[in-house]
Amino acid sequence: MADNYHQERLVTPPPPIGCPVQAQWSPLNEDYLADPYPIAQALRAEHDVFYAPELNYLVVTSMQDIQAIFADHETFASVNVQDPVFPLDPAAQQVLAAEDFNPVAVMSNRPEPDHGVIRRYTRQGFSNSRIKTLEPFIRRRGNQLIDAMLAGESPTEFVEAFAFPLPGETVFRFIGFPEQDDDMLKQWCGDRKSFSWGNPTGEHQREIAEHMVAYWRYCREFVAHTQENRSDDFTSELLDGHEANPNELTYREVESIVYGLSFAGHEAVTSLINNTLLCVLSRRDVWADMCADPALIPNAIEEVLRFESSQISWRRLTTVDTQVGGYDVPAGTAVFLNFASANRQADLFENPDDFDIRRPNAAHHISFGKGVHYCLGARFAKFETQLVTEMLAERIPSLRLVDDQRLHYSSNITFRGPTTLHVAWG
Ligand code: HEM
Repeated sequence: MADNYHQERLVTPPPPIGCPVQAQWSPLNEDYLADPYPIAQALRAEHDVFYAPELNYLVVTSMQDIQAIFADHETFASVNVQDPVFPLDPAAQQVLAAEDFNPVAVMSNRPEPDHGVIRRYTRQGFSNSRIKTLEPFIRRRGNQLIDAMLAGESPTEFVEAFAFPLPGETVFRFIGFPEQDDDMLKQWCGDRKSFSWGNPTGEHQREIAEHMVAYWRYCREFVAHTQENRSDDFTSELLDGHEANPNELTYREVESIVYGLSFAGHEAVTSLINNTLLCVLSRRDVWADMCADPALIPNAIEEVLRFESSQISWRRLTTVDTQVGGYDVPAGTAVFLNFASANRQADLFENPDDFDIRRPNAAHHISFGKGVHYCLGARFAKFETQLVTEMLAERIPSLRLVDDQRLHYSSNITFRGPTTLHVAWG
């Protein structure tokens, strides 16, 4: 089906003629995963645009070119953003061929004009006032997790103790999923980022595919149940919208939004919380300033999104023959937008490799994209991270990183955050 949520695009046009090639570079190289920024800068210093045969992607590195591509959604479609980067293992393909595995592209990967229509139905759920209603849950659950951490031993592993559970539970309550399913849901979602943006082994792909099918079936049952039992959750709002205008927002689209959002709504927030701690706790004066003056926290989070973002790239696919950086680019070319490069551009950000929570233009990063697909959850993610940082600053000002820990980053072209973070206090 043309509008499948995840597709494999096996036909790759030839690289643009005359375009520089970086044969050795891949965003999955160990050195890049460990620290992408100096490598991204060195690559941009050589060429604003180059071809990466390892990925079969055209790589665009400058903020100006990335913004122009986001602005032209007709030439640079977002249809490939949820697709696996590499061809799928046949066993995984077989699992996903299940007749009832049929989520459709709805938000990030749906072209205009349908996308604009669907987005009208989701926008209301993400208004400032609606997001504010999450505050009591985030505070209560966040405090419970902090209590449990403080009741245990210092040091502890923060991702498991806090940053992983809280964002998942927050978006699940927003959607309306019942609490008793949290652990199962988190296990099912866990590896979707590896499926679409990583390079998992064949065996792992099959396992993830099984989880995705189970997850999709769960979403369908949940929407069917909500259809009969309305509440004040986001899924009920979507169903109201569907019933008012079933041709504009179909039932399958409601199911697919729930499937998409329950992933989009937490994985990157977990990493944003971890990256925030990584940036601020490693600079004691910065953390002390934030503890003394929590009004510094919102801009500090913008600076984390610029300096050490939880999404360091995004993708597009050319729909027609076009030009990028002066090169003729054929239709069907996959394009890799390198945020890690653009967010540290010296002509846009003074001393771009300095982490500065008072930077006046920190919010001019590209980490939430731009244009018609601009992240629907940007305010949600920032609000949640702000509350969490305020709670940690207030309750554990002595929080610090354990010295000399080795950080590990998963093999992923887009999502970035340490898999573990050991912290101590007292
Ligand atoms: C730090 C956390 C997050 C980051 C860095 C992030 C980043 C992004 C990016 C780069 C896009 C694509 C933008 C484009 O194509 O122009 C996007 C789209 C989207 N994000 Fe986020 N996101 C985050 C958190 C969230 C959260 C918490 C939610 C929901 C609760 C969410 C929901 C969405 C949705 C639904 C879209 C598709 C919007 C559309 O196509 O209209 N995101 N996000």
